[in-house]
Amino acid sequence: EKGGYQHFMMKEINEQPKAIRETLQRRIGKDGKIKLDGISLTREDLEKFDKISIVACGTAYHAGLVGKYAIEKMARMPVEVDVASEFRYRDPFVDEKTLFIAISQSGETLDTLMSLREAKSKGARVLSVVNVVGSSVARESDDVFYTWAGPEIAVASTKAYTTQLVCMYLLALYMGDLRGTITEDYYKQVLKELKATPKKVQRILDKAEDIEELAKNLYNRDQIFFIGRGIDSAVAYECSLKLKEVSYINSFAIAAGELKHGTIALMEPETIVIALATQDFLMEKMYSNIEEIRARRAHVIAVTKEGSQISKIKSLEVIRIPKCMDEVSPILTIVPMQLFAYYVARERGENIDKPRNLAKSVTVE
Ligand code: M6R
Repeated sequence: EKGGYQHFMMKEINEQPKAIRETLQRRIGKDGKIKLDGISLTREDLEKFDKISIVACGTAYHAGLVGKYAIEKMARMPVEVDVASEFRYRDPFVDEKTLFIAISQSGETLDTLMSLREAKSKGARVLSVVNVVGSSVARESDDVFYTWAGPEIAVASTKAYTTQLVCMYLLALYMGDLRGTITEDYYKQVLKELKATPKKVQRILDKAEDIEELAKNLYNRDQIFFIGRGIDSAVAYECSLKLKEVSYINSFAIAAGELKHGTIALMEPETIVIALATQDFLMEKMYSNIEEIRARRAHVIAVTKEGSQISKIKSLEVIRIPKCMDEVSPILTIVPMQLFAYYVARERGENIDKPRNLAKSVTVE
């Protein structure tokens, strides 16, 4: 049942090219345009909404953070992202003019479900991004955008996350197109980039040994930081969650620009910092953050695109992802970091598929 893999987590990491392809294929018509069959989001609907509120937990919340960047950039609509356990108890500003988006792999997470009910009772339109067909979240939503990841067994979410990202991009593009906030060319370009991601993810998977090596060098560390800017900061949170939940290493993610407001105090010789630096327009800024950290003699490992300015720094340890448009990089950036979390946990002899204290779906408070 593990398809020759030692753990479900590794099997599921490797299923990502297929899962991404499936999720895309279901939503791209013969004319090359995104079709949201079964989801009624018309131009008039979109004109009615004055904001989008995304609510989720854990990894799904992290997909929502990326969704905010994508939707705000492409559809030029304000997006709020909340963790469900906070949203449901804070009497949120939600009404008939809100498009509420719940993201959930299982569709059974209690806080997410209760937030959905709260939003519905306040008159919001509810769209959910769900993996399990017919789950509670799916049943109670006005519209469902399914991820086609297939069953995810490992507690640590991997292919559900990358397919959730795909859904967020498709939604953002679709809305941007309807609202006229993006050009035809841009729309086509992003879709082309999305369609190229399965192959690029495969290229990363084919070089898994490099990440295994890195994990063998770092597995006995006590703490590992992740930093990034822009969309990379959203991915940093997911990298950190992945690592801590399966390896139990104390891990922390922070927007790189925030470092100097406190966290840089923790940098000392041999501190490990993984710097996500995939955004071309933020490369200079990341470069200075990396140098600031290295000046404290902490050890930086950069995750960056092939050929980027940072990838050429000789004295810097670098993990390269294939070249891509800045917008879609999270789908690629997370993959080596999922592998890293997996290999570190394996080196430490942890119970990878069922980490201590965690359940696959959290149906209680
Ligand atoms: O089923 P859901 O997507 O609603 O689950 C949300 C979180 O419980 C889940 O993503 C959790 O954080 C995972 N263990 C992350 O790997």
